Amino acid sequence: MKIKTSLKVSSPKEHSQLMARIACKMAKEKKYKKILDMGTGTGYIALALYEKGFKVEACDISPHSVELARENVKGKEIPIFQSDLFTGVKKKYDLILFNPPASGAAGENPLSNFIRKTRLRKPLAALFYILKSRKRFQFILNFLRQAKNFINSKGRVLIYMNPGELRKIEPKLKQDYNFVRINHEKTANNLIIVATELK
Ligand SMILES: C[S@@+](CC[C@H](N)C(=O)[O-])C[C@H]1O[C@@H](n2cnc3c(N)ncnc32)[C@H](O)[C@@H]1O
Repeated sequence: MKIKTSLKVSSPKEHSQLMARIACKMAKEKKYKKILDMGTGTGYIALALYEKGFKVEACDISPHSVELARENVKGKEIPIFQSDLFTGVKKKYDLILFNPPASGAAGENPLSNFIRKTRLRKPLAALFYILKSRKRFQFILNFLRQAKNFINSKGRVLIYMNPGELRKIEPKLKQDYNFVRINHEKTANNLIIVATELK
């Protein structure tokens, strides 16, 4: 699959490919018809699903991403729109996919450049990592809390998180969702795909 990339947009990684493969398999087995690729980046996952015959839409908070993804899916029926999580989402879907940003929000934090240069970089980097992890945890929690209003009753949300995040998130959302740990293949950064379905 040919995809244009750009320095302003997160390019597909090994785990983007894994998510695309798992989503295709799941959508086929469960006969899912409508799919949303949240935080589409280059449009890679949306395009992979479309090429397997699924009806898919995609969104991203970043205007650079929306522009690049539109270029990558040119001539194909894949609506791409700008949305901060679900603010621009108008429908319900059978499957919503999200490979969330490592930092928990769009864009590079200006603090990381400062930390790289200072003599206190080790302790500061550790503190920064803790703050970043907290921010990402809140971001994923917020995403899942909103996502339940946008999935059809037998639908699912597929999302990457690490096992530590899953341990903390599951008890907070157990009244809303059943959680299933999906992937059998290991990704380099120990991310796992978690499927959640409404209770
Ligand atoms: C790790 S990248 C994944 C890109 C693509 N899905 C892939 O796997 O190649 C995360 C994407 O989420 C987008 N994003 C970050 N915050 C978002 C938000 N609040 N709403 C929608 N998208 C967001 C980023 O702009 C980025 O494109």
